[in-house]
Amino acid sequence: MKITIFGTGYVGLVSGICFAELGNDVTCVDIDAEKIETLNKGIIPIYEPGLKELYEKTKERGLIHFTTDAATAIESGKVLFICVGTPQKQNGQADLSYVMAVASSIGKHMKEYKVIVDKSTVPVGTADKVAHAIKESQDTAVEFDVTSNPEFLKEGSAIKDFMEPDRIVVGADSERAQQVMLELYKPFVTEKAKVIFMDVKSAEITKYAANAMLATRISFMNELAPLCEEVGADIIKVARGIGTDTRIGPKFLQAGPGYGGSCFPKDIRALSHVLETHGQANTILKAVDAANERTKNRVVPRVKKMLGSLAKKRVAVWGLAFKPETDDMRESPAIPIIEQLQEEFATVVAYDPEAEETSKKVIKNVEYAADRYSCVEGADLLIIVTDWAEFKTANMEKVKSLLKGDFVFDGRNLFSPGKMKELGFRYESMGRKGV
Ligand SMILES: NC(=O)c1ccc[n+]([C@@H]2O[C@H](COP(=O)([O-])OP(=O)(O)OC[C@H]3O[C@@H](n4cnc5c(N)ncnc54)[C@H](O)[C@@H]3O)[C@@H](O)[C@H]2O)c1
Repeated sequence: MKITIFGTGYVGLVSGICFAELGNDVTCVDIDAEKIETLNKGIIPIYEPGLKELYEKTKERGLIHFTTDAATAIESGKVLFICVGTPQKQNGQADLSYVMAVASSIGKHMKEYKVIVDKSTVPVGTADKVAHAIKESQDTAVEFDVTSNPEFLKEGSAIKDFMEPDRIVVGADSERAQQVMLELYKPFVTEKAKVIFMDVKSAEITKYAANAMLATRISFMNELAPLCEEVGADIIKVARGIGTDTRIGPKFLQAGPGYGGSCFPKDIRALSHVLETHGQANTILKAVDAANERTKNRVVPRVKKMLGSLAKKRVAVWGLAFKPETDDMRESPAIPIIEQLQEEFATVVAYDPEAEETSKKVIKNVEYAADRYSCVEGADLLIIVTDWAEFKTANMEKVKSLLKGDFVFDGRNLFSPGKMKELGFRYESMGRKGV
C-alpha cells in the first residue's frame, strides 16, 4: 500500500520504516529540511536500537523515501499518517498547531479519496477538528475519512513494539476507512495482537487513558517510597507482593526518581486539562503529576541531608536519558537533579551510553566521562539516575576503589543495600532504608 507519513520523529520514523519493512511503499514528510537531508544521507538522527539496520534494508529495497515536498507526498499516499508533535502548552493543554497545519496542507493538495490517520497523541475531538480543517482548505470537495490510530510504542524497544504489538487500536467511524485500516494492519495481526476497532472518540481517549494509568501506578509507588524508607520497609517487596496479584500485574510498579520522557508528563497534563474543561477539576491526574514533581525533587535534598554541604563536591551521575536504550532526555529526572546539584555549587561529571550529545543541548556546565568507571574516578559520591544495563552489571568493588568518597545514591534500586554495605559504601535508594 502507498503510505505517506507526516513527521519523522520517533513515531513517524519508526512507523514509516516498519511499514516499509512489510512491503508498503512509504514516503515520509518533514518540514525540517536538515533532518530530511540527514535521513537521505542514510543517517538516523535518533538512537533507537535496530532502526538504522532496518532503514538500510528498506532503503535498499526502494520502499522508503524522505522529502519536504508535502504536495507530491499527499498525492501519492492512499493512507496519510499524522505523526507530528503535540507538545504541551503553558496551561497543560496539548498544542495542536502542528497537527492542524498538516490537516490544512492535506486539504489543499488532495485530489482523491484518502484515509487520514491521527497517530499523534491528541485530545478527544481532534479528529473532528482535523476533518473541519481539511474541508476548509479544499478548493473542490473530495471525500476522505479521518481515523484515530494511537501509537503505543516505547522508545528503546520501538521496533519490537511496532512489529509485535499487544493490540492495535483503530478508531474509524466509516466502514470504508475500517477496511483500509484492516488491510494495512493485517500483517500485524496474530492470535495475541488483534485490531480493536472502535469509534474515533473512544480511540482518542484510549491513548491518554493508557499513559495516565501507567503514570498513576508509578506515582503511587513513588508516594509509598518515603514511607518505606522511614519505617524500614522495602518498596521492592511491596511491589512483588502486589504485582503477583493477577488483577494488578508486576509492570510499572518500580519506585524511582520520577517518570519523564516525551509522553507521560505532557499527556497526563493534557488529559487533566480535557477533564477540567469537562467540569472535573480535582482529578487523580493532578495528584499523579504533583507526586512526580515531588519525587524528582526528593533526590538532591536527601543527598544533601547525608553529606551536609555539596559545595565543591564532585558528583558522578550515571545516566542522563529518561530511561535506558534511548538518547531522549525530554523531561528526564536527570535535568532537575543536575540543576539542583549545581545550585548547591557541586561539580557534576556525568556518563550516559547514548545521551551525551542530547545533554549538551539541554544542560550546561557538565563534564562528560567516557565510561562508567572514569565517571566515578576521584568523585565524592555517585548518583544513579537511569537504569542502563551496564550500570546494573558494574563492578562495584572497582567503583569503591575509584570513588574518593563512599556514598552512593541509587535512584533506580539497582543494588542490594546489604551488599553495598559489605563493600563499604554508605547507600541510599528509593523506598528502602539507607545503610
Ligand atoms: N515518542 C514516543 O515514544 C511516542 C510514543 C507514542 C506516541 N507519541 C506521540 O506521537 C507524536 C509524535 O511524537 P514524536 O516523539 O515522534 O515527536 P518528535 O517531536 O520526535 O517529532 C515530530 C516531527 O514532526 C515534524 N513536523 C512538525 N510539523 C510538521 C509538518 N507540518 N509536516 C511534517 N512534519 C512536521 C517535526 O519537524 C519533527 O521531526 C506526539 O503526539 C507524541 O505524543 C510519541
